[in-house]
Amino acid sequence: MRTSLSKLAHRKSTGGDPIVMVTAYDYTSAKLVERSAVDVILVGDSLGNVILGHDSTLPVTVEAMIHHASSVVRGTSSVPVVVDLPFVAMATEDDAVRAATGIMAETGAQSVKLEGGAHMVPLISRLVQAGIPVMGHLGFTPQSVNTLGLKVQGKDEAAAVRLLTDALAIQKAGVWGMVLELVPTELAEAIGSRLDVPTIGIGGGPGCDGQVQVWQDLLGLDEDFTPRHARHFGSLGAAARNALDAYAAEVQARTFPAEQNVSHLDPEVLSRALARVPAADPDAE
Ligand code: KIV
Repeated sequence: MRTSLSKLAHRKSTGGDPIVMVTAYDYTSAKLVERSAVDVILVGDSLGNVILGHDSTLPVTVEAMIHHASSVVRGTSSVPVVVDLPFVAMATEDDAVRAATGIMAETGAQSVKLEGGAHMVPLISRLVQAGIPVMGHLGFTPQSVNTLGLKVQGKDEAAAVRLLTDALAIQKAGVWGMVLELVPTELAEAIGSRLDVPTIGIGGGPGCDGQVQVWQDLLGLDEDFTPRHARHFGSLGAAARNALDAYAAEVQARTFPAEQNVSHLDPEVLSRALARVPAADPDAE
């Protein structure tokens, strides 16, 4: 039985532990999350960057989200799964409703997440009325990188007012929680204190009601890059490289595969089989 998102969100009003969220994009990673203390998985459209190698989230398709989210759902049974609505699904409200409905029906996920503030209120209300739980995402919203630039948001008075207003508007529309990305700590805290629903920070400081990190960042898989808002809690990139080098060395030394990795054939069966197949004629064309 999966933990319900309303139960998770409820932790805020009951003074429970911060909510721990991580991205995952495949079955094996999802199984690891299921066995950890992490509360909730986000199948983020960051898969465009960290899985597909694009320089933004914009090229990610609805089909790719469904493909990855389905494998994450298959790898979990108790952890709830939230799936991003990708940029291409947001052209019109009808497109977004169709994409969200497809994602929920085809993946078995528990919620969608969408980026944007007050202008998303009609869409959020429509999705919630249709029975689709929605998580919001404010601050730096990667799908708007071309208009916002990759930088901390809400740094002047007008921008801070806009963020506060957006947060209250999408809460009223029915989101169960919201990501605050690259928002100054003081502002993230002020937003959280005016909301009933939890805020989940990524570059939003410790005052948020929870934190989310990208799988590759927190496990240290990409050795070339650590965003400022992240920390490597492991060195899986180095561990994977060491394992690959050890594998290559043993193949080259012919010590892998070893006896326990192979199967054998009765020599008599082999010689009878060989006798029935003539050797190749080296002069044949
Ligand atoms: O796509 C994603 O991984 C996200 C997180 C950065 C919150 O939206």
